[in-house]
Amino acid sequence: MSGPNTDYDPVEVTPLKADEVEAMREAALAAIAAAPDLEALKQVRLDHAGDRSPLALANREIGALPPQARKEAGQRVGQARGAINQAIAARQTVLEAEHEERMLVEETVDVSLPTLRRRRGSRHPITLQSELIADLFVAMGYEIAEGPVVEAEWLNFDALNLGPDHPARTMQDTFWTEPADDHVVLRTQTSPVQARTMLTRKPPIYVVCPGRVFRTDEYDATHSPMFHQVEGLVVDEGITMAHLKGTLDHFASQLFGDDIFTRFRPSYFPFTEPSAEVDVRCFVCRGVDSASCRTCRGEGWIEWGGCGVVNPRVLVACGVDPEVYSGFAFGMGIDRSFMFRHDLEDLRPLFEGDVRFSSAFGTEI
Ligand code: DAH
Repeated sequence: MSGPNTDYDPVEVTPLKADEVEAMREAALAAIAAAPDLEALKQVRLDHAGDRSPLALANREIGALPPQARKEAGQRVGQARGAINQAIAARQTVLEAEHEERMLVEETVDVSLPTLRRRRGSRHPITLQSELIADLFVAMGYEIAEGPVVEAEWLNFDALNLGPDHPARTMQDTFWTEPADDHVVLRTQTSPVQARTMLTRKPPIYVVCPGRVFRTDEYDATHSPMFHQVEGLVVDEGITMAHLKGTLDHFASQLFGDDIFTRFRPSYFPFTEPSAEVDVRCFVCRGVDSASCRTCRGEGWIEWGGCGVVNPRVLVACGVDPEVYSGFAFGMGIDRSFMFRHDLEDLRPLFEGDVRFSSAFGTEI
């Protein structure tokens, strides 16, 4: 007779036995608790909750059991797997929080720490101005000429038609080196470079020479015993005052603004004949309503430098035939140009080497 099979003895499948499942669960929970970081937990998940984990493999055996045993084993395995997944999720939350906290500490930036950045200094505004002027002339085909600041008296004066009695040769203006018999000076102007150039190369000559000059002036807001000039010299066939005027007008417009030009006032320099003082149109008021203009102080013009047609005596002294060649020359103060270009009232900051002054002109590098 058939009836309920009460004395059913389930087939035992070893991995599904209660104590086996319990052991797997214990092992998994222990591994989860021991996982030190998220990386390790990932491995634990694979080992204990992945498709090839002992519990997953045991699960596959369930189908082989008779119904009652299948139910019990299913519950057992299901609970174990559920507990493991929960434990993994909980551990994951804890480890993530720890990770985040550690990152916050490790990656902290203390914005109050002193900076390690060193200021790199600054190019001097006068150096830049000199280079700018040199570039303007190089663009017109000129070359840059140079000469020493410790110069022979003959080149600084005699060759330039500054005879021994010329007032500029008195001790007042000139730094002489010792012993005086050496006849060596700190050059008082860049004009000796004219003589040096003519003595060393043949016309046509088109050169500019920016450089330092020295005079025994008191150091005050408008004077300094050392300052900068730029000298220009052209020697070629057929050079006239008109070439000089055109060149300086171009120079002025390049340095001070498009429609800025120059005017000449008759003057005297021993090395040029005729000679002129050159003024530049005030680039602030442009000669309109000048009365209130601070830059030109009501003049409409700003004194800029000296110029002229090279004196034939200078050409002869420097070995150039005045029957064939003529030339023009000019000389300007670079510091002065810089001062009125930037509305500086005092030139001393230009010589005192404070980088805060230089960098105010946007020249920090
Ligand atoms: N050397 C003159 C000075 O220091 C400036 C000067 C004037 C230069 C006329 C020139 C020139 O070349 O032609 O005052």
